[in-house]
Amino acid sequence: MDTVQSDQGKALVTGGAGFIGSHLAELLLEGGWEVFALDDLSTGSEDNVSHLRDRPDFHLVVDSVLSPAVVNELVYKCDVVYHLAAAVGVRLIVEEPGRTLLTNVEGTENVLEYCSRFGKRVLIASSSEVYGDHREERPLDENARRIYGPTTARRWAYADTKAMDEFLALARHEEKGLDCVIARLFNTVGPRQSGQYGMVIPRFVQSALSGQPLEIHGDGAQTRCFCHVSDIVRALKGLMDSPSTNGQIYNVGSTERVTIRELAERVRAATGSGSDLVYVRYEDAFGYGADEIEMFHRAPAIDKIEAAIGWRPSRDLDWILTDVVEHTRSSASAPVGARASASEPTSSGPDPVRAS
Ligand SMILES: NC(=O)c1ccc[n+]([C@@H]2O[C@H](COP(=O)([O-])OP(=O)(O)OC[C@H]3O[C@@H](n4cnc5c(N)ncnc54)[C@H](O)[C@@H]3O)[C@@H](O)[C@H]2O)c1
Repeated sequence: MDTVQSDQGKALVTGGAGFIGSHLAELLLEGGWEVFALDDLSTGSEDNVSHLRDRPDFHLVVDSVLSPAVVNELVYKCDVVYHLAAAVGVRLIVEEPGRTLLTNVEGTENVLEYCSRFGKRVLIASSSEVYGDHREERPLDENARRIYGPTTARRWAYADTKAMDEFLALARHEEKGLDCVIARLFNTVGPRQSGQYGMVIPRFVQSALSGQPLEIHGDGAQTRCFCHVSDIVRALKGLMDSPSTNGQIYNVGSTERVTIRELAERVRAATGSGSDLVYVRYEDAFGYGADEIEMFHRAPAIDKIEAAIGWRPSRDLDWILTDVVEHTRSSASAPVGARASASEPTSSGPDPVRAS
């Protein structure tokens, strides 16, 4: 693989053909980095990076983080590593728990092993899912306890794999001096996000634009905070660029809280749609009760990242909805995903459904 002389160096982005990874690749390229995107295209897509493919400083490597030889070569070649590759759809988690566990734990272990071996700085994309089932409407700081359901409920497998990724990274940091930072991402939205896995905003927007009912699971009182992907990738780069973040965990997300019911109303207003709002029992949508699958409230405390790198989100929910609506309208190839599948264990979408 040919490489070019870049201003900054070489960055490996695992999951670089995914939703967040492709936006991160763009930001890094703008900043003068040469980018290697390692992606098996399982939930990502070549379309996400088709506009970058002709650049000499962008390389898409279609392979798996489960391949030690490939990870070895790429980590050796690159200066920094952003590890975003993961099995992230809850559909995958529920239908293929083994694959989720393997990808998220063994894949991360491979990345950490070679970063540790070659002394490369790595950012691990974790998830707000690690906090588990908090029911109070208060922001979660990085030291909040984790509250999980039983191992028989597969939806918890995802949270556990991300927590294990954090444990593995912290262990290598403490035992081997690995230079690493962990970003716990909360709900992220923006162009290229698929509604296919049930993420609530693309799902609502698709439904509203096609005149289909907006399907709300439960009473819609569950709350989420949505952050635009451009803010998220700016945070990831900021955390990577700041040496003081070594060995630390940071929440990354918006603090603007909205109920899913209000979100549906706002999507209807943003699209000018006359779609009905339809309330569906969890049992009917998923075959599980709310207690088993829903995470009722999830809002980040972001004081730590703000103190470390001065980051706050710059886009509010109105801006995000306008952007997603415009993008969905203009994108002829936007995936449908207007209705969540019964195998998706949560409704309010966010992290949950596309679980991350
Ligand atoms: N989108 C969110 O709201 C959100 C929230 C919290 C955390 N995250 C985390 O951010 C990261 C990116 O998520 P995303 O939303 O962009 O999802 P995504 O599915 O678009 O990105 C994940 C990428 O990893 C790739 N991948 C999966 N298995 C792989 C393997 N074995 N080898 C190589 N590539 C593989 C997929 O093809 C995909 O391109 C994930 O680690 C996810 O857990 C996302």
